Amino acid sequence: MSIAPLSLADALVDVGTDIDTRLDSLIAIPDDARAPLYRAMRHAAIGGGKRLRPLLVAATGRLFAVDRDCVGRAGMAIECVHVYSLIHDDLPAMDNDDMRRGKPTVHKAFDEATAILAGDCLHALAFEILADPATHADPFVRSELVLDLARAAGPAGMAGGQAMDLEAEKSTFDLPTVTRLQAMKTGALIACSVEAGAILGKLPPEGRTGLRGYARDLGLAFQIADDILDVEGDEAAVGKKLHKDAGAGKETFLSLLGLPRAREQARMLVDQAIDHLKHYGPEADLLREIARFTLERDR
Ligand code: IPE
Ligand code: IPE
Ligand code: MG
Ligand code: MG
Ligand code: MG
Repeated sequence: MSIAPLSLADALVDVGTDIDTRLDSLIAIPDDARAPLYRAMRHAAIGGGKRLRPLLVAATGRLFAVDRDCVGRAGMAIECVHVYSLIHDDLPAMDNDDMRRGKPTVHKAFDEATAILAGDCLHALAFEILADPATHADPFVRSELVLDLARAAGPAGMAGGQAMDLEAEKSTFDLPTVTRLQAMKTGALIACSVEAGAILGKLPPEGRTGLRGYARDLGLAFQIADDILDVEGDEAAVGKKLHKDAGAGKETFLSLLGLPRAREQARMLVDQAIDHLKHYGPEADLLREIARFTLERDR
């Protein structure tokens, strides 16, 4: 079956609109005392963000002609975990940031308790979405999605990486340790997004080596780009406070390698990510374009 080509620009708009529409109907504000909690969830989750993770689910799903609604729901679930991680990352106890996606952070627009609870709710909602039969008719597919996201979000994934990232402000970490930290903190949810596309496509695990290699290199390149944007990005374009990492004395690829070598490393990772897709034809062009975008982005 041939799959119509889709430009990255169109795909970004498509996925952005789709995720906003889905979240808008999912997070309807109730007429009771929980209204501020729901408003906080909507503030964080709707409007803004590149929606890279749902885009990766969709782009991988395209390889296997996965149903658009399945891909959209799985992408929304992973985005909910990502948004929860951003809400908590911005809290005073963590990065203490007041801008996110061009808006005040949730604890600034609401209060800290509401921000913590909005994060908790988005975390739970993600698993509710995946476990719902609407996400896939096959319960084995649903349970594999749940298992993979749980691993990617927990102590061996994003949350574990965040804990190491806080340590990176106090300790000196070597390059392998920073690589492991970034692979957990940022790489795990990115890898989970590609994996979700493969799970929905019923690709057996032994067929996933190329996609896993792609996702691992992409995740690392993505975090190096985030660290580079922190140094030389434009705050209005990025939509968050910059020049935070060096100020916090945080060990990152940039602090260890310096800007030119970090940029070179990221370029190499992007080339390597694309190389992992060599067994795929034009149906993987969107994944290739996403890899290039990771470095070229200004937000
Ligand atoms: C920011 O992620 C935090 C990291 C994991 C580096 P994104 O750069 O994907 O943030 P949004 O979703 O576009 O706001
Ligand atoms: C956060 O990394 C990654 C998460 C898991 C949320 P950063 O702290 O570098 O992300 P930004 O720069 O605030 O988006
Ligand atoms: Mg942080
Ligand atoms: Mg932060
Ligand atoms: Mg950052």
